[in-house]
Amino acid sequence: MEHHSNIVPWQMLCEEKKAVLKIIPVTDEGELDVIAYKKLLSPKTKLVSIVHVSNSLGTVNPVKEIIKAAHEAGAVTLIDGAQSTVHLDIDVQEMDCDFFAFSGHKVYGPTGVGVFYGKKGILEKMPPFMGGGEMIREVTFEKTTYNELPYKYEAGTPNIADTVALKSALDFITETGKQCVRNHEMELLEYATRELEAIPGLKIIGKAKEKISVISFIIKNIHPQDIGVLLDNQGIAVRTGHHCTQPLMARFGIPGTVRASFAMYNTHEEIDRLVEGLQKAIKMLS
Ligand SMILES: Cc1ncc(COP(=O)(O)O)c(C=O)c1O
Repeated sequence: MEHHSNIVPWQMLCEEKKAVLKIIPVTDEGELDVIAYKKLLSPKTKLVSIVHVSNSLGTVNPVKEIIKAAHEAGAVTLIDGAQSTVHLDIDVQEMDCDFFAFSGHKVYGPTGVGVFYGKKGILEKMPPFMGGGEMIREVTFEKTTYNELPYKYEAGTPNIADTVALKSALDFITETGKQCVRNHEMELLEYATRELEAIPGLKIIGKAKEKISVISFIIKNIHPQDIGVLLDNQGIAVRTGHHCTQPLMARFGIPGTVRASFAMYNTHEEIDRLVEGLQKAIKMLS
C-alpha cells in the first residue's frame, strides 16, 4: 500500500545492508492483511514502516495494533503520516510509534519542508545522517563531537522561511478544528461514494471500513488519463495515474485510477459537478 517514498529508500538500504524487505499483503477491499502481517514478523525484523493513510485508496491503517505487534517482535516502527496529518488527530505518544513523518504540502503548507519525529532515546543513539554546520558541538581536525537534539540532525542552514510557513499552516488546521473538518469530509465521502457508485461501469478501488475522504475509481474500458483530461476541460480537478504506488496498482491489476479527494473547502455541489462531468466524459469516450 506504500507510496514509492516508503519503498525505494528501503530497497536502497537492503542493497547496502543485505537486509530483506517483506511486504504486507493488501486485501481486495484495500486494507492491510493484519493477520498476514503478524506472520511476517520475526525476531529478525528490524523495522516496520507503514503508511498511516493510503494516498491512493484513502484506507486508514490500524497503526496502533501494527506498532504493538512490531514492538512485541522487537522491531522499531516508522509511520508515514503524509496523508493522515491533515485529516486525523495525531498523537505520536498514544500511537507509540518510534518515528513519524509528514510533508508540508499535504497540510496546506509549502513543498520541500516537513516534519520528522523520533523517540528521543533512539535519536540520541543514532549517528547523524548529514554533516555540516550547526550539527556539531566541537570540531577539530582530530575529532568532531555532535550537538544535542534536534541540531544533531539539522546540518547546514535550514529552510527557515518555509518552516515558518509550515507552522502557520499547522496553526490554521488546529484553529479550524480537525474534528469539525473531519465531520464535513466524511459527509462528503459518503455522499460522493453513493453518487459515484450509481454510475454504470464505475468501480471504486479501495473500500476499507476506515477511510478518509479519498475515492479512487476506474471506469470500464476507459483509461483513467482520458477521464482526467475531459474532467479537467470542464474545470474539475482530479488526479489520475498510479499515484506513486505502482505496486499497489499492480496488486489490483490496473494501470492507475482516477482519484477524487475532498478537503475542508469542498462542497456537495462540487460533487454533483464531478458526477455530471463524469457522465459527460463517459458519453464522449464510449
Ligand atoms: C502517503 C505518502 N507518503 C509519502 C509521500 C511523499 O511525500 P514527499 O514527496 O514530501 O516526500 C506522499 C506524497 O504524495 C504520500 O502521499
